[in-house]
Amino acid sequence: MKHIATAFTGVVVLLAPLAVLAADTASRDLTFTKDVAPIFQKSCQSCHHPGTSAPMSFITYQDVRPWARSIKERVMRREMPPWHLDKTVGIREFKNDISLSDQEIDTIVRWIDGGAKQGDPKDMPPPLTFRSEDEWFIGKPDLVVTFDKEQVMYAKGPDWWIDKFGETGLTEDRWIKAMQVKPGNAKIVHHAVTSQIPPEGADLSSVFGGELNEYAVGKYGDTFPEGTGRLLKAGSRIRFDMHYFAIGEEQRDKTSIAFIFYPKGYVPKNQVQVLNFRNLPNDELEIPANSTVRHDGYFRLPRPARIDIFQPHMHMRGRGMTLESLNLDNTRTVISSVDHFDFNWHISYIYKDDVAPLLPAGTVLHAIAIHDNTAANRRNPDPNMWAGYGERSVDDMLQLRLHIVYLDEAEYQRLAAERNAKITATATTGNQQP
Ligand code: HEC
Repeated sequence: MKHIATAFTGVVVLLAPLAVLAADTASRDLTFTKDVAPIFQKSCQSCHHPGTSAPMSFITYQDVRPWARSIKERVMRREMPPWHLDKTVGIREFKNDISLSDQEIDTIVRWIDGGAKQGDPKDMPPPLTFRSEDEWFIGKPDLVVTFDKEQVMYAKGPDWWIDKFGETGLTEDRWIKAMQVKPGNAKIVHHAVTSQIPPEGADLSSVFGGELNEYAVGKYGDTFPEGTGRLLKAGSRIRFDMHYFAIGEEQRDKTSIAFIFYPKGYVPKNQVQVLNFRNLPNDELEIPANSTVRHDGYFRLPRPARIDIFQPHMHMRGRGMTLESLNLDNTRTVISSVDHFDFNWHISYIYKDDVAPLLPAGTVLHAIAIHDNTAANRRNPDPNMWAGYGERSVDDMLQLRLHIVYLDEAEYQRLAAERNAKITATATTGNQQP
């Protein structure tokens, strides 16, 4: 468990070399237009542009300059862009990686330390155009489901978590190829998590977990690989688990989810299951006052499997979560570790196809969760209070949500052989397969 010891001190270790570097080269003049604007275009503006729920726009120098100090802090702590993995362990390649490289962080920090100069406007890269939030990024939907009742959000007050409902009106089961949640009012929707509630008495043998898709700023829906899907049951309702924030004037919202289905009668070969790591002892979650605690969960794979997505879920005391495999040859492999969890963000880490963990039957998945109930945790609502499992955000949780595809033995053998053939090329990812 060596990596755990380093994983949670990683931030401290990381800042030191950057500071040294900054001091060394601070004399070189970095400018916004030449050095920083390209990084902001690539890594910040997809969210920080007008019309999204990100609280400020980072397009022009004038937009950015007043935020310089806060930007420095957020990028050095690796809180922005939101990507909370320990990048030094486990799998390194993700389809949705929006993180900054060490080099980019260094450039931003040196630019700010050097006075955050604008530079020559002629160096400015041409402005980006943004996809309209009105578009469905997955393509033209077959079905759109929205709330029965519009939500009215107050002008001033704390964040509001509320469940809303809508009907699918589906009269037969359908296999989902793609789905996307879109906020009705992006200014106030922080995130929206959807799940299906099948009608009572429905045969749930192929449903595998109710959670569907999630919206958070910067997310553009799920499209499953060809031949892979999820089942939406006839007569299902959709639950929208909404997180709103107040922006100073009353607002209204009707968030929706869109689906693209496989043709009627087509059953995809592989079904994506949402494995919510239920074996983590939810009801035993014990977080005494002024303490940092660890909980462990285990899940033995009944069949060979591929893990496509890793997503820890905790609340305000959540600090980190690690997934490792306990392999059949008695070795263990760290798969992924979030070391600076932030409850504001529900990030799905989507593995690239070539590195998505491919595990034989009998492998044990081991999840390690760390909750920090001390005053050192800035988000902690009250370090003097015991916390346990609960839905409210002042209570806590621990869940590891994985998208997992079970494979038959022959397909597993085939994919493992393909992977082994490539293994020399991917040795640098640090993901050794048994
Ligand atoms: C995926 C969307 C997304 C991306 C990408 C993103 N941000 Fe943010 N950012 C947000 C949202 C939403 C908030 C407000 C909520 C929060 O603080 O977490 C925010 C808040 C911030 C803040 C805090 C401002 C304050 O209140 O002091 C800073 C600074 C910031 N972002 C900088 C950046 C920078 C710099 C980048 C790129 C290197 C970036 N962000 C990329 C969505 C994003």
